[in-house]
Amino acid sequence: MPNPASSEALQALTDWWQDMGVEVDSARIDALMREMKASAPVLKAIDPAAKTAPKTTSRRGRGPIDWVAEATRAAAACDSLETLKAAIEAFDGCPLKAAGEHTVVYDGVPGADLMVIGEGPGAEEDRQGLPFVGKAGQLLDRMLAAIGRSRTENTFITNVNYWRPPGNRSPDAEELDVCRPFVDRMVELGKPKLIIAAGGVPAKALLDGTDGIMKIRGTEHVFTTPGGASVPLIPILHPAYLLRRPQDKSRAWRDLLLVEQRLSELA
Ligand code: URA
Repeated sequence: MPNPASSEALQALTDWWQDMGVEVDSARIDALMREMKASAPVLKAIDPAAKTAPKTTSRRGRGPIDWVAEATRAAAACDSLETLKAAIEAFDGCPLKAAGEHTVVYDGVPGADLMVIGEGPGAEEDRQGLPFVGKAGQLLDRMLAAIGRSRTENTFITNVNYWRPPGNRSPDAEELDVCRPFVDRMVELGKPKLIIAAGGVPAKALLDGTDGIMKIRGTEHVFTTPGGASVPLIPILHPAYLLRRPQDKSRAWRDLLLVEQRLSELA
């Protein structure tokens, strides 16, 4: 029977694997975390996966909070990327928030013509409070540099989810839904000419689609927001995937060349 130490050790081990660029079977880790929680309710006190807030909270006399509606209201009230960042940091409607160290919103150049949107923070991003700063982020920086792009000069970087999911799993549909009004507003305020969706999770979420990344990578789509933004979007392979499968880097290179070409046409 797992004991509390096992749960913490499992978390630490998966963090370490992730830091080392080792492929993590997130589904299996999540299943183990769930088994531990089910068999030992006392774990809830110390298991980071269990420190999460309930998905809806009731306000006295007013029923449960609709957090997507709250996010939509909070996002709409923002008139700059800075105020949007503050609004996301103040937002308590994502159950992942309580388990993390930081809210990870964006990095790079506000207003840049290229916006990269990834899946969500991992262990290193949660520690530093910035997107794409772990091993995958370092590869992303090298990929961008290959087409003359960098977060210090001409690229804005964010994610479809602002809090680290436990066990390095992908964010689930509810977690994505509650972040979505902020993602939409980020695009409306940042006004990029082109969006890169880095990986299958952001590509599917942003395009509300079901096609896998291998099918849609390197093809151009249009991302639209309820506020009227309409921006070309190109999905690429996630850098964490490329760390595991370097033989696919030539595909990523082709996709980046398309990004470079479209940026010059859209300038
Ligand atoms: N992977 C992502 O998709 N986003 C990050 O910020 C870090 C890793």
